[in-house]
Amino acid sequence: MGLASGRIGDYPFRMKWRHWRRFGSLAGCLTGLAVGAAETETFRWVDTADPTAAAILAAGDRAIDHYGRALLSEVKRTLNTTTPALAVGKLHLPEYKLPAAAAGQPAAVAIRRTSLKLRSPANAPDAGDLAALNLIREKLDAGDDVPKILLQKVESPGQPPEWRVYRPLGLTPQCLSCHGPGESLDPDVKSALLRLYPADKAVDFTPGAWRGVIRASIAAAAKP
Ligand code: HEC
Repeated sequence: MGLASGRIGDYPFRMKWRHWRRFGSLAGCLTGLAVGAAETETFRWVDTADPTAAAILAAGDRAIDHYGRALLSEVKRTLNTTTPALAVGKLHLPEYKLPAAAAGQPAAVAIRRTSLKLRSPANAPDAGDLAALNLIREKLDAGDDVPKILLQKVESPGQPPEWRVYRPLGLTPQCLSCHGPGESLDPDVKSALLRLYPADKAVDFTPGAWRGVIRASIAAAAKP
């Protein structure tokens, strides 16, 4: 399938793939979310080994590295300076700014995170996201290797194509103060979550579990 050419080793999270198989399926509940997506928008998978996509993939990889590091250091910093309950209203990266692209190179134009087990409705997957999440979940369920990076091309009439680079995201022990098993959560964290995210599904994870994906949207370099 040519999907395994990513460089997950650069990523700050150490993922234990075998634990990811325990992750339950919510895909059935979420399929409906894709129905309302722009009907004219289509996406297709692109082979990550395709040499014509190398610059796009590299830009996506760089953006995801940057964002992943920022996410992890924000969690560490926040937990060192405040209580998890107070931190619930502050995460993740509300002020994040993408690094500037090198001249003449494809540019990351947006970055987001999404999951099959959602906390914030603002992070809900669209049709392309859901395809990426389901592809990963199916690999985990089957006990197969999980692609380290995925590449999609999304097209809408009259718009330049949006390239999407996806990378699976795992949980470190620090994440568990807000995404861990319900019974182990601090009661103040629980009540903050209930207040701010009444439909929260993003709990009951274990360290190393699969959490979701980081997605970078890349615009091809302008033609000179
Ligand atoms: C102090 C509490 C807290 C900690 C610790 C925490 N998170 Fe979150 N997480 C949240 C909140 C609140 C949201 C919803 C708001 C948002 O998206 O930023 C969220 C949302 C997410 C989402 C987006 C998908 C969704 O369900 O909305 C991902 C992915 C995620 N967290 C991953 C992580 C990872 C990885 C770590 C550890 C490195 C972590 N979180 C640690 C509170 C926390």
